[in-house]
Amino acid sequence: MTGHIHIALDLATLSSLAAEQVVTAAQEAIVAHALFFIALAGGKTPEQLYQMLAQPAFADRVDWSRTHVFFSDERCVPPDHDDSNYRLAATTLLSHVSIPAMQIHRMQGELSDARQAARDYAQLLLERLPRTPQGVPVFDLILLGLGQDGHVASLFPGTPILQEHTQPVAAVYVEKLHSWRISLTLPVIAATQRILLLIAGDAKAGVVHDLLYAADASAGFPLRLIQPEGRIDWYLDAAAANKLDPRKLERLGYLVHSYS
Ligand code: 6PG
Repeated sequence: MTGHIHIALDLATLSSLAAEQVVTAAQEAIVAHALFFIALAGGKTPEQLYQMLAQPAFADRVDWSRTHVFFSDERCVPPDHDDSNYRLAATTLLSHVSIPAMQIHRMQGELSDARQAARDYAQLLLERLPRTPQGVPVFDLILLGLGQDGHVASLFPGTPILQEHTQPVAAVYVEKLHSWRISLTLPVIAATQRILLLIAGDAKAGVVHDLLYAADASAGFPLRLIQPEGRIDWYLDAAAANKLDPRKLERLGYLVHSYS
C-alpha cells in the first residue's frame, strides 16, 4: 500500500486540507461524469471537516445539485440518535448546503433487521453508481476514519464482514461494541477513485505506525487486505504522526507532504 501522506500541525489544518481535496474531487468528478458520488465517514474526526465544507469558502465551490452523498458505514440506531453518523453529517454539513434531500442517501440504521438495511443499501449503490467490469459500485471519493484497532468504516479486524467479497454493503455484529453496524465492504473501498483517511490525536499514533509500516496483510488490518485502485490520501495531525519517520515512509514508497 502507498499513497500520499499529509502531516498537518493540528486537526483544524488537517480539516482545511481535506476540505480542499473534497472540493477538488467534486469538481473533477463533475467534469468527468456530471455527478459527484461521495461516501462520508462516521466517528468524531470528520466533524471539523464537515463544518468547514459548510462554510461558503468551500460550499460555494461544490455543485451540490450534482452531488450525491452516501455513507461509509452506520451504527444501527435511529437517524436522530447521538451515535448516528447520518446525524453528525446532517447537523454539521448537509443541513447547511443546497443539496437536494433526494440526493442524501443514508443507511437505515433504524431497521430492526440490519441485514435487510444492508441489502437495501447495496441495491441503491448498484442502481445509482457506475460499476467496475466486475460489477462493483465505484465512488468518486470515500472518506474514512481509523479506529485504534485499525478498523475503517465498520470493517473491524477479525470480523466476518472482511470475508464479504461479493456484496458492496454488509451488516456486521461487533462483539466488543455489543452492536450491529452496516458498512461498505472491502471491494467497494478498493474500487473507489479516491480515499481520504482522516486521522487525528496521539491515541492513533500507534495504529498509524503499525498500519503504515506493516510489511504485508498478516497484521489483519482491513486496509492492508486490499490494493486500492485509486489514489489514497492519508491526512494526519502531528499527534497521530508522531511515531512516523518521513524518510522511512518515502523508502516504503509513500509521498510525504508536511504542513506547518
Ligand atoms: C464509525 C466510523 C469509524 C470511525 C473510526 C474513527 O462509525 O465509528 O465509521 O470507522 O471512522 O472509529 O473514529 P473517530 O474519528 O471517532 O476516532
